Amino acid sequence: MTPLLEVRGLSKRFGSVRALDGVDFDAAQGELTGLIGPNGAGKSTAFGCIAGAMRPSGGSIRFASQEIAGLAYHRVARLGVGRTYQIVQTFADMTVLESVTTGALLRHPRVADARAHAEELLAFTGLAAKRDRLGRMLTIADKKRLEVARALATEPKLLLLDEVMAGLTPAECRDAVALLRRILERGVTVVMVEHVMEVLMPIAHHVVVIAAGKTIFSGAPAEAVRDPGVVAAYLGPPLEAAS
Ligand SMILES: Nc1ncnc2c1ncn2[C@@H]1O[C@H](COP(=O)(O)OP(=O)(O)OP(=O)(O)O)[C@@H](O)[C@H]1O
Ligand SMILES: [Mg+2]
Repeated sequence: MTPLLEVRGLSKRFGSVRALDGVDFDAAQGELTGLIGPNGAGKSTAFGCIAGAMRPSGGSIRFASQEIAGLAYHRVARLGVGRTYQIVQTFADMTVLESVTTGALLRHPRVADARAHAEELLAFTGLAAKRDRLGRMLTIADKKRLEVARALATEPKLLLLDEVMAGLTPAECRDAVALLRRILERGVTVVMVEHVMEVLMPIAHHVVVIAAGKTIFSGAPAEAVRDPGVVAAYLGPPLEAAS
């Protein structure tokens, strides 16, 4: 089956910085693909390009067999790509319900319909009891959960999650993993940037590793941690080679 997302030769330059320098990866329908790599590897830039927040300098992004590279953010969202941001974009002065309603407006132009859909997602994500709380009053874990709820409210086929577990306690991480499993059960395809391999190992079907803007590994999670190229990208070259 054709993958839901096919990224080929994706490049992005910021002036003289080559943030992405030929990234290739696929996300198979219904699976969770983990996207990992050292700080500055280009993971968030790849998400920005896929979601239409940044215009790629080159390469191809096919979503549901349609080329989307360079399409505007709202068009990509309408086709079915949802995302969260590494730096949470919680609307500080909106309530939880209002924030999720803004996402739901994409497919439900009538506010009452959007609100009803948002209410469903608050129940699904475990935020119903906090529906009237202001964004800025939330804990980090709830802000991240709210980001996921708002992205889900746009009814994505593909959900891009950028470090949604960063800064969470182990118990909060377990809750987040449980939510991820329920999102997959709904049939949503997930690509997830995550630094902690222990979190990814049991839930990812597939792992893609990027370093310095290039794909250096694609395969099973258990193989990624044994791959010499991946280990070197994280730890640097062996001492004897460096001297
Ligand atoms: N808007 C921008 N303008 C200039 N340079 C940028 C911009 N966004 C990212 N970069 C640079 O592009 C490279 C890739 O950054 P990116 O944020 O995609 O990495 P990352 O893999 O998400 O890292 P992290 O794990 O720290 O989140 C870095 O060198 C970064 O400094
Ligand atoms: Mg990042």
